[in-house]
Amino acid sequence: MKTFDPATEGPVAFFKIFSSAVAPRPIAFVSTVASDGTKNLSPFSFFNFFSANPPVLVFSVSTPASGGEKDTLRNVRENGDCIVHIADRPLGDQLNLASAVYAPDIDEFEKAGLTPVPGDSVSAFRVAEAKVAMECRLRQVVSLGDQRASGNLVICDVVKLHVDESILFEDGASIDPRKFASLSRLGGEWYMETRPDSLFELPRPPSGDAIGVAGVLEAAPLTRRLSVAERAVLGTVNAVPSAHLVQDFAKRWHATNEMENSALAQGALLEFARSALSRYDTNDAWLAILSAEQLSN
Ligand SMILES: Cc1cc2nc3c(=O)[nH]c(=O)nc-3n(C[C@H](O)[C@H](O)[C@H](O)COP(=O)(O)O)c2cc1C
Repeated sequence: MKTFDPATEGPVAFFKIFSSAVAPRPIAFVSTVASDGTKNLSPFSFFNFFSANPPVLVFSVSTPASGGEKDTLRNVRENGDCIVHIADRPLGDQLNLASAVYAPDIDEFEKAGLTPVPGDSVSAFRVAEAKVAMECRLRQVVSLGDQRASGNLVICDVVKLHVDESILFEDGASIDPRKFASLSRLGGEWYMETRPDSLFELPRPPSGDAIGVAGVLEAAPLTRRLSVAERAVLGTVNAVPSAHLVQDFAKRWHATNEMENSALAQGALLEFARSALSRYDTNDAWLAILSAEQLSN
């Protein structure tokens, strides 16, 4: 392992490795208004939400090399309002354009070619083209230093969340990631878009104690023939199926799968288990594995 020590690396070098390690990061596309009414719009990838009740999101505005404060931080400190958008791939180039350094009196909606819509509950403007927008009020700014690249955490209460209906699941309760190519940032100039072919679901382990990888090996030594990732899926259960259920399964399985010898039957049962695991069907996988174990006895 190559080790980077922030104490000796220096902020620029450390930022390089740090921002490529903590990746991908969601991007807050933040709209604010200056005291003279100028509309400001800039992206910030030091961003996430940290509380659902109350709903609180945080983005961090770094202290620029020239010192002072970026316009977004100054504006939000002055009037407490901002709108945080989640941009998708089609907005990527305009978001990038909005990240250039502009004088405080430049309208960054105009620069980026985006349409401002007045907020419902805050003085900042919403980007009409963005599919997700959160109206926010400033709770607190926490400054983490006064040097170049020091973060200033802008902690905000979310007072309204707007979503384009076309990206919602049928039940309208949440965003379907297959319908929204949200943009995220990695190190350097690398970005990522959420794509249907890169998505997968991991069912959460049931509540209560999972048996874990060690418990899997104890219950079924044959699982040494599986990968550790497959054992990790098997380890999400609280308990293995009862001997009675295994017996029933084995009877049905042997009735439809005639094998010349028990070694072949074991191999076929393990393959069956593998296929069940690829669908996260832990019940069928365990029944097959424990049926295979019976053949060792
Ligand atoms: C995708 C992206 C993410 C960025 N993330 C941050 C960030 O998290 N913090 C930050 O201070 N600057 C970040 N920047 C740079 C700011 O967007 C840039 O400094 C901008 O000019 C600030 O504008 P303002 O002075 O109008 O607030 C990012 C730039 C891009 C393109």
